[in-house]
Amino acid sequence: MIQEQRHNLPIAKGKDALIEEIRKNDVTVLLGETGSGKTTQIPQYILESGLARNGIIAITQPRRVAATSLAARVSQEQNTHLGDLVGYAVRFDEKHDEQKTKIKYMTDGMLVREMMMQKGLLGRYSVIIVDEAHERTLRTDLLLAKLKEIQRKRNGKARTQDDAEKGKGKEKENNSDDSSNPLKIVIMSATIDAEKFSKFFDNAKILYVQGRQHPVKIYHSATSVLDYTDAALRTFFQIHTDSAPGDVLIFLPGQEDIESLQKSIQLFASQLPVSALGVLVCTMFAAQDHSQNSKAFFPAPSGMRKCILATNIAETSITISGIKYVIDTGKCKEKQYLAKASGGGFDTLLTRDITKSSATQRTGRAGREGPGMCFRLYTEEAFNSMSESGEPEILRCSLTSTILNLKCLGEKLEEMDVMDKPDRDSIASALKTLWLLGAIDASQQITPSGFKMSYFPLEPQYACSIVASSTYSCTSAILDIVSVLSSSSKLFVDISDQREAVSDARKKFRHSSGDHMTVLNVVRAYREIGEGESSKAAKSARKEWCRKHFLNERSLIEACDIRKQLVEVCRRVGMDASAAVKENGKEREEDAVLRSIGHGLAGNSAFLQPDGSYKQVIGQTIVKIHPGSALSEKKVAAIIYDDLMYTNQIYARGVSAISKSFFSSHPVFNQRKA
Ligand code: CDP
Ligand code: MG
Repeated sequence: MIQEQRHNLPIAKGKDALIEEIRKNDVTVLLGETGSGKTTQIPQYILESGLARNGIIAITQPRRVAATSLAARVSQEQNTHLGDLVGYAVRFDEKHDEQKTKIKYMTDGMLVREMMMQKGLLGRYSVIIVDEAHERTLRTDLLLAKLKEIQRKRNGKARTQDDAEKGKGKEKENNSDDSSNPLKIVIMSATIDAEKFSKFFDNAKILYVQGRQHPVKIYHSATSVLDYTDAALRTFFQIHTDSAPGDVLIFLPGQEDIESLQKSIQLFASQLPVSALGVLVCTMFAAQDHSQNSKAFFPAPSGMRKCILATNIAETSITISGIKYVIDTGKCKEKQYLAKASGGGFDTLLTRDITKSSATQRTGRAGREGPGMCFRLYTEEAFNSMSESGEPEILRCSLTSTILNLKCLGEKLEEMDVMDKPDRDSIASALKTLWLLGAIDASQQITPSGFKMSYFPLEPQYACSIVASSTYSCTSAILDIVSVLSSSSKLFVDISDQREAVSDARKKFRHSSGDHMTVLNVVRAYREIGEGESSKAAKSARKEWCRKHFLNERSLIEACDIRKQLVEVCRRVGMDASAAVKENGKEREEDAVLRSIGHGLAGNSAFLQPDGSYKQVIGQTIVKIHPGSALSEKKVAAIIYDDLMYTNQIYARGVSAISKSFFSSHPVFNQRKA
């Protein structure tokens, strides 16, 4: 059955021709409609053809959910256990085998890290497939730049004079790598920007896969929609009561909207007459765990209509069969670096209008298996005024982490051959942050601390806190906090109709210094639940405890996993992960923890003003403490915060009080006038 499905994919017809082209060319750009079989089939074709006899086939994905679920699918198609022949590697989660794995799905970030950490030529990979290249994530762009360079070295292409000069010193260091194995690069994309990729790789060959696309009738809303979740709800039930069977896919910007719409659809569906078609709601978003996400792939039981609520993850990287109707809110969430808005510079996640190319992809999802319909919750004018395609991340995201990693390699982003050059302001802002973190010195050279930080797969701010914690002997506590902050789901559950109960439950953990110590209290309390009991009883006790305290256990479980990996990194860089404050108890610990966190978040700090507002120490923006913070009802002289949320106000989230003396003893702040 699964083999028959494979055989019937649009790409199957072109198999031999595609393999022939990939064999002939060092770089190929492969373009094809979503669902044609690129991501699942090409690696298997390459494996079966023997083109990768000397190494592993890597396929990079911008999203971890896509990487894990595709690996699961392909290992099923190969009739093997996940992690044997077919494996995956995403941040904080890897499943592959040193000897057996030949096809490895991984995030672009993981491959970039591997490149940075091993400083080699990725010699164990024979073929690297850069998938979803049209998304132009920062890591994809870096990867393309480095792969171009690595391929030149491994395949021994004639180089320009300039390159030869620059490469002289470096070549020696790289000799440890097995560079006798030539590298093939395949770039895959769903949209039509193939030319740009081809040009970047010296006019690489472009191949097209014919997709299957049935006509999709598009309906725009007549007037502009204010509340898109409400509009989506109405549209869904209109389809459900009036239209032929077929599943519905609804595109929403993020997890909050998805969860709220899920509730309302379930509520309304429960009030339908028993004779009516039932509704099965599935959700799909990056922060949701794999087993939940994969429910969307199963066909609905008979007598039910499946309704999938998804973020743009279902736009191109994941294909779900059975979709006949698409409802498109026209919104997505996108990371945006506000370099100028604040003076300090920070990434925010903003809900914004999608691009024309996204709208077209979303519409296409309705016509993969037969004619379909797409309901756009925006007017035709709004569609016409959308920009053609998105801006690459390198032009709109924080470059701090990237530049730190490049510094370790002795490279400068501004000198690299990337497809789009980032602007000077964002490079300057990243350098400033790194200097503030003590990762680079005044002459922009990487410091020993900076080296340590780069080993942690974290935002440099948190890596800095961990590194700083060894000075204050509180690494164990900092690892507890940072692990929770790095988990993909929120620790605190917000249930709007039970505000009081939630706030009562939370009081127990609330620490007077703010949110970081509060998180530490939660982690410690959680750890004590069911300790020493048999594992099944302990498990359910913890689950019940989390429910009672409105805590998201998923976040704590994930944090526990992350912590283990961070402990491993500590060991590698020679830090004692178990360091803890022993003498003089609580107060000393609080001070140590806040100072360590403070080193990481020094750039995210604000001082109380006479009028009761807080003003950034770097940058001049006025920020408010988020109402959800443990500090929201207190006034303290100085605060540090995890991030800013931009709504009609600028809110600081994850806030702790810090003594002003911290800034006068800080190596960078005491030099400048804060
Ligand atoms: O990469 P591309 O969009 O061209 O297609 P793909 O991801 O290789 O998917 C090809 C087909 O495999 C899809 O049409 C799905 O029907 C199927 N598939 C699946 O059933 N379950 C998955 N987890 C992934 C793919
Ligand atoms: Mg794909």
